[in-house]
Amino acid sequence: MMDERQTVANALSKALPDLSTEEILNKIERPKDEKNGDYAFPTFFLAKTLHKAPQLIAKDLVAKVDQEGFEKVVVAGPYINFYLDKQAVAATILQTILQDPENYGGQNIGHLANVAIDLSSPNIAKPMGMGHLRSTVIGNAIANILAKVGFNPIRINHLGDWGTQFGKLMAAYEMWGDEEAVKKDPINTLQKYYVRINTEADEHPEYADAGRKWFKKLEDGDPEARRLWKWFRAASLSRFMKIYQMLDIHFDSYNGEAFYNDKMPEIDQLLADKGLLQESRGAKIVDLSQYNLNPALITKSDGSSLYMTRDLAAALFRKRMYGFAQALYVVGAEQRNHFDQLKAVLAEMGFTWSKQIHYIPFGLMSLNGKKMSTRKGNIVQLEDVLNDSIKLARQQIAEKNPTLANADEVAKQVGVGAVIFHDLKNERTNSIDFKLADVVKFEGETGPYVQYAHARAESILRKAGQPDLKNVAIHLNGDEAWGIIKRLGQFGEVIERAAAEYDPSLIGKYALSLAKDFNQYYAHNRILVDDEGRESRLALVQAVSDVLKSALALLGVKAPDEM
Ligand code: ARG
Repeated sequence: MMDERQTVANALSKALPDLSTEEILNKIERPKDEKNGDYAFPTFFLAKTLHKAPQLIAKDLVAKVDQEGFEKVVVAGPYINFYLDKQAVAATILQTILQDPENYGGQNIGHLANVAIDLSSPNIAKPMGMGHLRSTVIGNAIANILAKVGFNPIRINHLGDWGTQFGKLMAAYEMWGDEEAVKKDPINTLQKYYVRINTEADEHPEYADAGRKWFKKLEDGDPEARRLWKWFRAASLSRFMKIYQMLDIHFDSYNGEAFYNDKMPEIDQLLADKGLLQESRGAKIVDLSQYNLNPALITKSDGSSLYMTRDLAAALFRKRMYGFAQALYVVGAEQRNHFDQLKAVLAEMGFTWSKQIHYIPFGLMSLNGKKMSTRKGNIVQLEDVLNDSIKLARQQIAEKNPTLANADEVAKQVGVGAVIFHDLKNERTNSIDFKLADVVKFEGETGPYVQYAHARAESILRKAGQPDLKNVAIHLNGDEAWGIIKRLGQFGEVIERAAAEYDPSLIGKYALSLAKDFNQYYAHNRILVDDEGRESRLALVQAVSDVLKSALALLGVKAPDEM
């Protein structure tokens, strides 16, 4: 619930003048069983100083407690139990929401400090797969959540637009490339070449060499290599943009790996100055044995740079550019070692801000139980998944609401929202399986279920003629309403935790619970019946609608008014 802990502490502070509010606050508990009230204050810890039995202390104390704002305050053995005045709490929570729905649940913990968030970061010349979907939607939701608690998120798409895979791709293009085919369908055609060179590499060891040579050419600025690179990059990016548009996700920067080309010599220099570089079979490495990590490879024996080198340059660039208070990297769990190394090398370089770097891993996404890998080509394309999901949503809308006016637009919001929600309701680090039919269901733990609850609330408000409820006096009765009120009151706390733990699933689970509470309330209460409670019930419906919409917005999911 809204944190009424402070109200409880205030009520106690007059009776306990020797204790600070802080000390009192720390002792206040929330009973597991609601029968014991909304809050409880144990007295054991006072027994020593007061030389009295806790039971007696509780009895004496309760007489001095300020009862204002509580339904009752009673002694239960060594505890004092506080029962909130439900009417008063309901009125406060609903009015707070209705007065300023957009800001409800937000606060200013961040003081607008910059948080650099590395997210999405797909690899050019490959289709964007489900793994990058996870990074994209988790990173975007974390950015939204951090903004809600007062930080300034900076979304950075660290495109995989450099690296040895480009060498391979160019070598493949040199052998089998068909310019027309690439122009027509760049990503799929390039992907075909890439898969072919990888699958045939076992029989043709010379392919690996050709790839390395091409990458070296690229790093040395060879015009043909540069031309191919530019072309592949632009063609891929324009396809990625289509997906970002569908997801309605926007980035502050598309500085990918290539952007750091001219920034790596400085890294090399800094490492050399600190005496951190060691030779190992012609390559340059940083020893990280004191961190229990493998050495970080900084430069290959042929002089070419690595993923790590570019990430070191990127981290330093971001610190200088944004002066970040935190730098987050939303990248699959398989890269943990890389980010451990990145932080360790930065620490060795003397950058104390390496502590502000947080690696935010997530589990694998499988499709119908099957793993996916781009190198082998058994990848499911995100664009197809989104389009299938929209189609499925459209079919269900046609069945449930055949006269819906903007059905195609709503189907997009539902179909795309379903895919995003499915990803985000799960704890980040869990591996998740994706079965479209389960994801787009209107029942169960799905995005459409939450969207549907919101649309139902909006439909009730439409039927009531969209009354202005901002200043309605609240008189609600019934335990079901109280359940919803408490849930609405928890929104801010849930957001705060989601921000602290970088965990959007807390918001997803919260939205599901609120939708469930509301559907139950709807099943047992006649909201529109004309009695004195009507306006209060409508205020509750409006508040639920507002909070469901904001919760979904934090996840990057739309909330259509009708579906
Ligand atoms: N492009 C990489 C991949 O797909 C992810 C990049 C993550 N960000 C970073 N700064 N390393 O595996």
